[in-house]
Parts: sequence; C-alpha cells; structure tokens
Amino acid sequence: MRRHENFNANWVFSEGFSGETVNTMQDGETVRLPHSAVELPYNYFDESRYQKAFTYQKIIRWESDFEGRFVALVFDAAMADAVVYLNGKEIVAHKDGYTPFEARLTPHLKKGDNLLTVKIDGSENPQIPPFGGQIDYLTYAGIYRDVWLRVTSPLFIKHMKIETPDALGDSKTVHLKTTIANPHSRTISGTLSVTITAPDGKTVATGSTTLDGWKNNIDITGLTGMELWDIDHPALYELTAEIETTEGKDRLSSRFGFRTAEFTADGFLLNNKPLKLRGLNRHQSWPYAGYAMGRRAQAKDADIVKYDLGCNVVRTSHYPQSTWFIDRCDEIGLLVFEEIPGWQHIGGEEWKKESVENVRRMIMRDWNHPSIIIWGVRINESRDAPNFYAKTNRVARELDTTRQTGGARYLTNSEMLEDVYTMNDFILGNEELPGTNRPRTALRDQMEVTGLPKKVPYMVTEYSGHMYPTKRFDQEQRQAEHVTRHLMVLNAVAGDPSISGSTGWCMFDYNTHKDFGSGDRICYHGVLDMFREPKFAAYAYSSQVDPKEGVVLQPVTYWARGERNIGGVLPLIILTNCDYVELKYGEFEPKRVYPDRDTYPHLDHPPVVIDLRSVTLEEFGAWGRMWSDGLITGYVDGEVAKTVMMPSDPVPTRLEIAPDETELRAGEKDSVRVVLRVLDQCGNILPFFEEPVALTLEGDGRIIGPRLVSFKGGATGFWVEAGESEGMLALKVACGAFAEQTVIFSVGP
Ligand code: GAL
Repeated sequence: MRRHENFNANWVFSEGFSGETVNTMQDGETVRLPHSAVELPYNYFDESRYQKAFTYQKIIRWESDFEGRFVALVFDAAMADAVVYLNGKEIVAHKDGYTPFEARLTPHLKKGDNLLTVKIDGSENPQIPPFGGQIDYLTYAGIYRDVWLRVTSPLFIKHMKIETPDALGDSKTVHLKTTIANPHSRTISGTLSVTITAPDGKTVATGSTTLDGWKNNIDITGLTGMELWDIDHPALYELTAEIETTEGKDRLSSRFGFRTAEFTADGFLLNNKPLKLRGLNRHQSWPYAGYAMGRRAQAKDADIVKYDLGCNVVRTSHYPQSTWFIDRCDEIGLLVFEEIPGWQHIGGEEWKKESVENVRRMIMRDWNHPSIIIWGVRINESRDAPNFYAKTNRVARELDTTRQTGGARYLTNSEMLEDVYTMNDFILGNEELPGTNRPRTALRDQMEVTGLPKKVPYMVTEYSGHMYPTKRFDQEQRQAEHVTRHLMVLNAVAGDPSISGSTGWCMFDYNTHKDFGSGDRICYHGVLDMFREPKFAAYAYSSQVDPKEGVVLQPVTYWARGERNIGGVLPLIILTNCDYVELKYGEFEPKRVYPDRDTYPHLDHPPVVIDLRSVTLEEFGAWGRMWSDGLITGYVDGEVAKTVMMPSDPVPTRLEIAPDETELRAGEKDSVRVVLRVLDQCGNILPFFEEPVALTLEGDGRIIGPRLVSFKGGATGFWVEAGESEGMLALKVACGAFAEQTVIFSVGP
C-alpha cells in the first residue's frame, strides 16, 4: 500500500549554490521544514537579503521497501525556482513558488546513501509570476511548506476529482474521476473500488469498477440522507479510492462536501439560498518567519477570520495558499476565493504560459475543497489581456465545470471573460484627491463599473487598504474614520442585492517592499496588526454576527479628554450587536442610545453613535473640566448583555499573557501564538504603553523573533515553536514593575 510520510526533518541548509554543490554535502545548518531561508526583523529591513540562491540537502538512505516500487518526493511549495538533484543529476525543476510539485526519485535511487540537493532561488525572477514589476508583498525564500515521501506501487492514483452533480437532490450522486500514473508504461488492468464515509466515520456507500486505461470514472448513485456542507454545518465526507492491479494496490483519500455555490446577477447563493459574502483578504505571511509557518498557525488564521472576525469568506490574495489553511476552511465552513499568483504585472509569452500552468496546478490541487467557491484566473489588478485571459478561463472551465471564474481588477469597463466581475473598488477616499468633485461614496454601482447594459454576477474583492492605512495605535480619530470606512462599504454591499459580497483589504498588516507601505516595510492595511491583534476596525466585522454567537460591545475610544483634536470623545462610535446601549458618564443620568440605522440602514447591526444628537457637551464635560469614568452597558432583549468600564485614570494593572493554546506537538515545528497585553484596572488595553518586555523560553523549543521586544500600543506578540522532543516548555515574561510570569506549554507526540 501507499506510504505517504512527512519528509521535513534533517535538511542541511546553506547559503548560495554552485555547480559543485550537487555532488557533496555542504557545511550548513540542520533544519526542519517548513523553513525560511532568512528570518527578517519585524520592520525596517532590506528585503533583498533573501533574494538569492540557497541550498537544501538531505541524505536518502535506500530502504528495502523501495524495491520494485515508485518513490517520489512531493513538495507542497518552495519559493522559488526550485531545482531538485539526486546524486548530482537534475530530476525536476519547478519555478512557481506557490504550487506543489513532485520529484520522481525512481529510477535514480541507488542502494546505500543518496544525496538529495534542492536549489532554490529567492531572487525575483522576472520570467515567472508574480515577478517582473513591483509587488505589494514579500515572497520569502525557502522550502516553506511541507515535503512528503511517497512510495507507491508502479501504478498509482495520481489525481482524483470528486463531483456532486445533484448535491441538492434528495437522492445524491458522487461522481469520481481518477487519473492513474503509469511512469513505467505498464499495462493497466484491475479494479477501482470506492468507499465513502460520513462525518461520523461510518461507511455510507461503496462501489467498484474495472480499470480501463489511465482515466477511470465511477458514479455512486442513490445516496440518501446525506448532509449538506454549509457555513453553519460544514459536513465533510471522505472518499477513499483504491486500485488493485497486477502491480499492486494503491489507495488515496480526499474529503469533499455536498453543496452548490453560485454567483448570480442577484447575489450569491450557497445551496440555492442567498448569502451575502462578508470577508477579508489574507496574505500567508507572519512577522519574522515570513511564509514558513505550519499547520497550527495556518489553521488559526482561518479560525480568526471565522470566529474572531465573524466573516464568512476569505480571499487568498494573491496566490494559492497552504492547504492546511484551506483544509481548516473546509472544516469550519469558511468560504474561499482562491487565485493564481500575480500582482498587476503581466510578463512575456513564457511568463503567461507559466501563469496558465498556475491555473491548472491550483485547480488540480484544490478542486475537492467544498470551501472554495470561485477561481481567480486573472493576475490581480492587471490590464485586460484578451488572449491570455481567454486561455486562463478556458483551462479553468475545462478542469472544473462546477465553479465559476473571476479575477480581481481595478479597471472599469474591463472585458468580462470571467463568470463573475470581481472588482477592487477603492472609490471611497478618492474624494480627497484635489480636483475630484466626487461625493463621498462607499462603492460604485456595478453598471457604472462594468459598463455593461445589464447586471451581472458581481463581487467587490477589495476596498479600503492603502486608501486609509491605519496603525493599531494611531490616534483615535483616525481609527474612528478607519472604522467608518469599513462600515460604509459593508453597509453599501449589504444594501445592493446585485453585489454578491465583499472582501476588504485586508485581514492583517503585512511586510512589504520599500515601494509600498509606511517606509518601514509594513503595510498597515489590516483590521488586525501583524500579530493578529485587533484594531477597532476588526469589530466593524465581528459586530455583524448574531449576539447569540457572542456579544460585541466595543467603543472606538481610548477614553481620554485630550486624545482627539479639540478634546473629548464625541462622536463616539460603539461597535455592537446589542439592541441598544446606555452610556453613563460621571454623575450624570445614563443615556440610552440606539443603533444608527439612519446612517447604516442595511447593516444587521449598525453601530451606536453617540454625538450631540443624544448628549450635550454640558453633560459630557468640556476642555478644562474634570474628566470622569465612563460606563457603557449593552442590552439584548431587555437584559444587560455586556458592560465596558472606562476609567478616567487608567494605570497599568495587569500584564496579560494570552497563548492561543498550551499544548503543542513535538517534531513538527508546531508553533503557537502568544499575545501580551498591558491592561488597566478595568481590563482595557493601555494604548500607548511601550515598555520593553524580556522573554525567555526553557526547554526544547524557541521563540520566533527577538527575546527582547517592546510593547506597541499596549500589546505585542510572538510565536513559541516546539522542538524535536516531548516534554515541557516554560515561557517567562518579565516587564518593568510587573511580577515575572511563567506559562507552561506541554509538548506531546
Ligand atoms: C490593491 C492590491 C493589494 C494591496 C492593496 C492595498 O491594489 O490588490 O495587493 O496592494 O491595493 O490597498
């Protein structure tokens, strides 16, 4: 049977590469994958540091099990321009940095030790996407995803595509298409059998057929009582296909779901029910480690989008992302817009060919994920290129008839070769340009954008971002405007039935090139910072969920007399899903204020806005008067649902250490995020606390990033990574007058 084993351990990593490298093991550092060739500082760095060649080597010892079998390595991705050599001989080259590739070691493996060498080149090779122009993100070099050893019979299942053509019918069908790999051109004869298991692990159907060449399909029909995959109930089934041939057996499994997804001119339908898509764009990057983060960190990002931000969709801007991330989206019911690598620039013919291949690789890697609802087959924000995009669309449609195509653009009147016109609509903020006589408008009508005579399937794939960069610790007024802009777009999208939904720019701040961002190599475009710690704008999203799923009551203020221009905290936006709130200031009677439906008529949960419509300056105190405590109480169904107390004299009271979890797995660079916050006497973050904090980690593991960091806007974060051995890790945190604290992580198998 098939062996599919992790091959991440014991690589020897060294800088540079020469023709000689492939013949001898170089001196280097022993590393485990996923690995970043260069770990960068948090900001202010030179991104050319990783833009060069690096070498990864490893000894593969012959095993008796390899005899008569087919041995290959599967690289989930390497950035970029990877070339794999075995015993000095080139086996395979793969240019793209985001899609998987396979190095077929059979028949080159010899008895005894074999030297495997992988050259990668982090320089921005203009021959391949996304390179050739400027890009607003970093493409951190390294073998930054997993590598797997695969040992199979000489005939093995290469691909399987699972389709559910009548997903909404009472009696359902599973249509399986398989491709058998036959590298030695053997005769293919035997059987293909299929088992389908339900989310509870019980077998719900089986079937079999005789193999007939390298392409084999089978229908399993009459399936009743199957559950749909939905965002609230993401029922995942598993299909296992097994072939039995004269060469042996092979088995491959994949999860799938029964669901339909369709963008229409009247909005998006999931399982034929309207669903307004509300989400954000995500890069797959982290401070210090760049792209090289494994399963837990990838899955955590999906959880943050779904559970912390209350979104139902994420766009994998601007490339296919880790399957750990997409797997998690399948598991929790988070919809995905996935797209090919690229940013504005379109290169020459070879470059375009590679891009078309990227469409193919992306779709063939991910076609069984129920969470993916659309393929982005344009280079993000590129110009129209009819021949090129006719091809990317054709390839997508040939490979997958079950999903529509889109492709994010910023052009109006752009040629619509895709099924969905997906627009980065950055109009909001444009009115600030001198000479623009535009009123302040959140979004353009879709027909103004498309120039088409009728409504078409339409989605807004970006807004905000560079139009209003905002740091988590920026002045309160700026944050209020940041919040307002996100709310305005959410409201406009909610109010236009012809817009399927939107993904804002973006989920979290990210490191970028010098040509973008704030000069420190960070684009402060997130609703979260790089540690995924929320800015106020994050609550514009999370407050849209039903209070039954979590009550949100987040005033957009640091509660100080003199933080804003002129002073005071009015107008005060309170992001909430409560029915109404009461504000008590000092000795005055509490004021009850309802959500601002006049300004945000389409939001499920408009914010409460307290301004001179509901309070007087007299009551609220003016410059020169004493500043008092504020108490905000949110009510749901007439009951107190949440309170927020804002002291007039905040002082550092508690150093909060918040690890996402304290149980880790050994031997897989399992890393967990830890956020530190300095809180006042009422539990609010102290927004301008900037003291240094010293971190130490005892045990087999490491802190990703420096050991001495400073708080930024009252919070900071890092990741603790487990090492090879099981046991305990003790994290010690020391900061100024706070007593030193210890967090224990247990590291298990
Ligand atoms: C868009 C682009 C994104 C990001 C964003 C910043 O034009 O697609 O990658 O650069 O602008 O707002």
